[in-house]
Amino acid sequence: MDDKKLDSVLHENRQFAPSEEFASTASVTPESYKELYQKSIQDPEAFWADVASELHWFKPWDTVLDESEKPFFKWFSGGTTNIAYNCIDRHLDGPSRNKAALIWEGEPGDSRVLTYFDLYREVNQFANALKKLGVQKGDRVAFYLPMIPELAIGILACARIGAVHSVIFAGFSADSIRDRVLDMEAKVVITSDGSWRRGKLLTLKNTVDTALEGVDCVSDVIIVKRGQGEPFPCHVQEGRDHWYHRLIDGLPIHCEASEQEAEDMLFLLYTSGTTGKPKGIIHSTGGYQTYAYLTAKHVFDLKPEDVYWCTADIGWITGHSYLVYGPLLNGATCLMYEGAPNYPDNGRFWEIVEKYAVSIFYTAPTAIRAFMKWGDQWPEKYDLSSLRLLGTVGEPINPEAWIWYNEKIGAEKCPIVDTWWQTETGGIMLTPLPGVTPTKPGSCCHPFFGVDPAILQEDGTETDGGLLSIRKPWPGIMRGIYGDPERFKATYWSKWDGEYYFPGDGAKKDEDGYFWVLGRVDDVVNVSGHRIGTAELESVFVEHEATAESAVIGVPHEIKGQGLVAFVTLKEGVTATPELEKELAGFVAQKIGKFAVPERIIFSADLPKTRSGKIMRRLLRDIAEGRALGNVTTLADPSVVSDLQKHYEED
Ligand code: PRX
Repeated sequence: MDDKKLDSVLHENRQFAPSEEFASTASVTPESYKELYQKSIQDPEAFWADVASELHWFKPWDTVLDESEKPFFKWFSGGTTNIAYNCIDRHLDGPSRNKAALIWEGEPGDSRVLTYFDLYREVNQFANALKKLGVQKGDRVAFYLPMIPELAIGILACARIGAVHSVIFAGFSADSIRDRVLDMEAKVVITSDGSWRRGKLLTLKNTVDTALEGVDCVSDVIIVKRGQGEPFPCHVQEGRDHWYHRLIDGLPIHCEASEQEAEDMLFLLYTSGTTGKPKGIIHSTGGYQTYAYLTAKHVFDLKPEDVYWCTADIGWITGHSYLVYGPLLNGATCLMYEGAPNYPDNGRFWEIVEKYAVSIFYTAPTAIRAFMKWGDQWPEKYDLSSLRLLGTVGEPINPEAWIWYNEKIGAEKCPIVDTWWQTETGGIMLTPLPGVTPTKPGSCCHPFFGVDPAILQEDGTETDGGLLSIRKPWPGIMRGIYGDPERFKATYWSKWDGEYYFPGDGAKKDEDGYFWVLGRVDDVVNVSGHRIGTAELESVFVEHEATAESAVIGVPHEIKGQGLVAFVTLKEGVTATPELEKELAGFVAQKIGKFAVPERIIFSADLPKTRSGKIMRRLLRDIAEGRALGNVTTLADPSVVSDLQKHYEED
């Protein structure tokens, strides 16, 4: 976060208490909050056992929390359960059987509504299709799908039979798909003929074909037809590829839910870290379901009559925990939208809110900033009076955006829950509770039940402003990095001798005990709420034959929160041209995905380095943000900086 924003956040004193009307029906009240929070910290095992008991278990657990192999915590050991059963079957015996579970709207305006019983049928057929292809418990199934119902159905189908799902966001390139598929040794890949984005057709299957060239582990590819009537043109490889609608034709609509051990792996989700290689974050079954269930229930105050819309893509953790699992575990009605927020015009989201009478709306600050820029006339055109609760996630929200959201979308009557969490935490960790917490714009307020945060200095002493850390394990915590237990320990647990989980964020606690998460303190940049490791991008740049060296930094960006700037030095004899800049941008799009292409690529004769050869990113940030240069005395060659600065300003 830049200094100006930081300053405005830290001088933010406004408070917004929930209305009496909201508080009077909220699932947690100020009185119950205190009592429950205390219990959750003093006796977490009793607290979480009570919560887990609200879900279905085939066999109860023997131990609530097993810390014997810390930091590889085990929750509910000995118990068996099935999260898909808990999301669907559990709701079939009562009034929810014919209630809408999933309302889907396609970008061109087509729509589908699946009741809980419809979802049961579809998930079971999908599960039977996977079985028909020989998918067994523990096998990894990769998804590369747009936001269509089959993505939610497919991951629930995997969960039903105990296969591990791994969703790859459909904006990733063929190379990124290949890396992930190989790392997880996927047996099956599920994609679609294409997808709609801003009225254009994206040819997903073709990207998958490129990704799978020379990949041996994948035996089958399932293609979901997104094209209406005729499928979109795509290649179908005899023996490997199957049209989904043909595969499920005639398959039974019943499929027994597999009895999963609480610690059986539920899914892998890849995320960027500080090294060049993305990591496969492991989440397991029993703890994850318990945590997703309770956080969704209380943070969103879910009521049977709500229409809940989380705008996140299922390719990211928010879509997993709060579009699919959390709300379905609570028997909620979830809305899912396929396309862009500005197609066919900037009012699309508000049109959807009006059309389906959405009552809970959860989105990212980057989207809110874009809405602000597009102008108030768009939300003003629609009836948003159904909304009763708003949420944000993914990055710090600046107070201006928060206030706009509160006034223009929430009509000053909807509590806003600013939720801090990560792929690794599985669920929301710091958040207001909507009927309880007076909110402050830009603050994610307080820990959720069972979360015991601390702000520490490098040496482990507590402070008001420093590194965020979490003291106790919670049920939704990641269980490791796929294939790399050492990296798990080193990244998250080594800073304070294994006693605290380190999320990689900086934070501050104010005099009222409110938490303010300020952003990453490592080399991860949060672009529009998407995590991009600078090392990952740098290694892509140096893979290109023209590049000798590169350094990538995050800079403040009006809409995206942070943008990327790449400093690139070229090999001897290579000339810096606008064409080469374009080529390098295309190379990043090909290697990672379009969303990772830097805002600016600056060619420079050299990079500022310390005498020991370390690139001084701090100086690059100073240059990029036009700040007075910090300490340059450790520079090996001080002239590099002034040259670079001149170059940057001229560019
Ligand atoms: O830096 C924090 C930021 O997003 C990171 C996690 O990114 P990811 O794993 O992709 O998950 C995003 C959705 C949960 C965090 O380390 N972040 C997330 N939510 C907030 C946030 N920063 C400030 N405030 C938030 N509410």
